[in-house]
Amino acid sequence: MADEETVTELTTDKAPVKARGLEGVIALESALSSIDGDKGRLIYRGYDINDLAEHTTYEEVVYLLRNGDLPTQDELDDFTAHLRSERALPSPVLDLLRNAPDDAHPMAVLRTAVSALGLYDDEADAMEERANHRKADRILAQIPTIIAAFDRLRKGKNPVEPLDRGSMAHNFLYMLNGEEPGEAAEKTFDVCLVLHADHGLNASTFTSRVIGSTLSDMYSAVSGAIGALKGRLHGGANQEVMRMLLEIDEIGADPAEYVQERLAEKERIMGFGHRVYNTMDPRAAILRGMVKELSEEAGEMKWYEYTASILNTMQEETGIAPNVDFFSGPTYYQLGLDPDLFTTIFALSRSAGWTAHLLEQWADNRLIRPRAQYVGARDRTVTPIEER
Ligand code: CMC
Repeated sequence: MADEETVTELTTDKAPVKARGLEGVIALESALSSIDGDKGRLIYRGYDINDLAEHTTYEEVVYLLRNGDLPTQDELDDFTAHLRSERALPSPVLDLLRNAPDDAHPMAVLRTAVSALGLYDDEADAMEERANHRKADRILAQIPTIIAAFDRLRKGKNPVEPLDRGSMAHNFLYMLNGEEPGEAAEKTFDVCLVLHADHGLNASTFTSRVIGSTLSDMYSAVSGAIGALKGRLHGGANQEVMRMLLEIDEIGADPAEYVQERLAEKERIMGFGHRVYNTMDPRAAILRGMVKELSEEAGEMKWYEYTASILNTMQEETGIAPNVDFFSGPTYYQLGLDPDLFTTIFALSRSAGWTAHLLEQWADNRLIRPRAQYVGARDRTVTPIEER
């Protein structure tokens, strides 16, 4: 995060500010989440992420982000009942999933399907606050159904209809696997959802707010955000981390040497580095514990050991700390998810943040429109085409 001095300089100077990649620029105010990059702290609406991960469920966190306070039991019951009632997909969207190529990337399918949901929502362009809350509920409730249905279809199985009970974590794992998850898997998955629900003005959230700031609709903004999350410098990194761990395993490489060789080639190690954290991402610290626990439960420590070795090597060679994606990859893998689904799980959770940010944006909207410094040619005159 930019320090006080930089912020003052950036906000009081009327001259154009140049900050490559918008580093350190405060583009707007938000009351949703805050990151202390030096202390490695993440806060949602005043609550520390460690406290939330230990004591709340994903649905409580969604409610918190959206409404500002944690729900009472009655408020939570109403909210979850409404989310459950919105889980089923419009049948043309299910058809779209049936017709999608089996080898399409699940994030591309999710982006397309969320965009398509807007075609079948009568309220798609309604901008009243209540209508936007209802759309946020639908998007949140239907993203898990899209991911699970596509995964089953591409494997030649029939989609499983959503349950009309149970948490989002429970229902998603049920729709994906066709059987109800155990308590431990549901709890682990639920904590993963809590950890990914919001994270300041990250690239996908910024994308959603830029789209929202033009007074475009929620489906446009969320499908744009999914597109931004897909990239491997952002959410796509969790899949890449697992690709690396699987490759290390397959070729029988020493993880430390593997990383040293990549660094010598000037390659980036996925799951390390962050624009805002200068120390360990607090979400990574929680997920690291989960990778260890899941490995111990499975009686197979290799994934934990590979991550520990890579962590040490990165620390020694670069001093760069791990981010959330370094440990979410092996967590999801040990929960039995296919690596190319990992980023869709990030999207499933982050849809809470995107939609809450959109509501915040629209409550006090101003078009987000930065400038580029023009460095191109000037003062040219057109040569008629026949003379070029
Ligand atoms: N491996 C090796 N070197 C790195 C890495 C890395 N993962 N990350 C940054 N560096 C180096 C980079 O080469 C540069 O060195 P130099 O100054 O010598 O050229 C220096 O650190 C600063 O890098 P930067 O690209 O200017 O930093 P940034 O703030 O623009 O990038 C980042 C942040 C997350 C894109 C970057 O750290 C990265 O590419 N990490 C790998 C991808 C990744 O894990 N992404 C997930 C991000 S966090 C959760 C999420 O959003 O999904």
